[in-house]
Amino acid sequence: MYIGILSRNPTLYSTRRLAQAARDRLHQVQLVDTLNVAVELNPDVPHLTTISRQKLPHFDAIIPRIGNSVTYYGLAVVRQFETQGVVTTASSQAIAQSRDKLHSLQMMRQAGLPTPKTMAVSSLVSLWYAIQAVGGLPVVMKAVRGTQGHGVLLVREFASAAAAFEKLHQGKEAVLVQEYLPEAEGRDTRIIVVGKRCVAAMERQAAAGNFRSNLHQGGTAHPITLSRETSQLALQVAAAHQLDVAGVDLIHSRRGPLVLEVNASPGLEGIETVTQTDVATAIITFLEKEYARQRVRKRGERGRLRD
Ligand SMILES: Nc1ncnc2c1ncn2[C@@H]1O[C@H](COP(=O)(O)OP(=O)(O)O)[C@@H](O)[C@H]1O
Ligand SMILES: [Mg+2]
Repeated sequence: MYIGILSRNPTLYSTRRLAQAARDRLHQVQLVDTLNVAVELNPDVPHLTTISRQKLPHFDAIIPRIGNSVTYYGLAVVRQFETQGVVTTASSQAIAQSRDKLHSLQMMRQAGLPTPKTMAVSSLVSLWYAIQAVGGLPVVMKAVRGTQGHGVLLVREFASAAAAFEKLHQGKEAVLVQEYLPEAEGRDTRIIVVGKRCVAAMERQAAAGNFRSNLHQGGTAHPITLSRETSQLALQVAAAHQLDVAGVDLIHSRRGPLVLEVNASPGLEGIETVTQTDVATAIITFLEKEYARQRVRKRGERGRLRD
């Protein structure tokens, strides 16, 4: 296959590992700077080009690694590739839906998956009601598009809730007010789903004095073996978001495991190092199967057209 990896930074661990894993399986790989792809809507130019008008190869598959800061343009680039029928580890729609924490929680509620009690607040007027609605203080407040623990605050007093709202809201989107789960004791579970399999799992523990277990916040981690129920839940979360490759975060509560969030391009460094699992190769072999399935489908369609 000819695989394109959309990433702004070729030196990132995940980008390097995916490129290496693809080459090891004898695929051709090109790293493509997401912002260097032209989004051109012109019927006279059917192929994709870079912004400096160089023709891009016709990739068989892409791996979008769209950073949070370039979500809008990055999604447009993924859509351009989708119009060419390229196999992808994540569709533009799935990336958009999982990146928006509120949308993602709504989809999980609709799928009947367990999530912490949460309320969206779009103005200070409803903040007090939201805090009561999720069970009172303390609460966790979250920006709808945060990542790596940035934009997640533990709020113990109403006075600081108003300040937290202003900080996370910044005059734009809604802020999530969520029940705080002290019983998690700063721990959560990160599961990597590839295809219909959980390929790696770790438990993360927040650093002393922090309730956020993200490794970027100084958390530590160890590998774990999942129960059948927990694996099943992670697979359901990925399926509800139509994600074939996903990082699923679960948190322990008195009501059992709850889903915190899902990530469409999970970082590989932490999980591969902690679990000693080759997640990158699992992703490449998944793309191989998808590509083979797509070819069978296309052959079938051509056959039907001839008949
Ligand atoms: N409701 C909650 N109760 C207790 N801890 C939480 C809660 N929500 C998040 N956390 C902690 O904060 C971390 C970051 O929250 P998360 O929603 O995953 O945001 P991010 O996208 O920044 O990782 C989680 O991994 C978890 O350790
Ligand atoms: Mg998280």
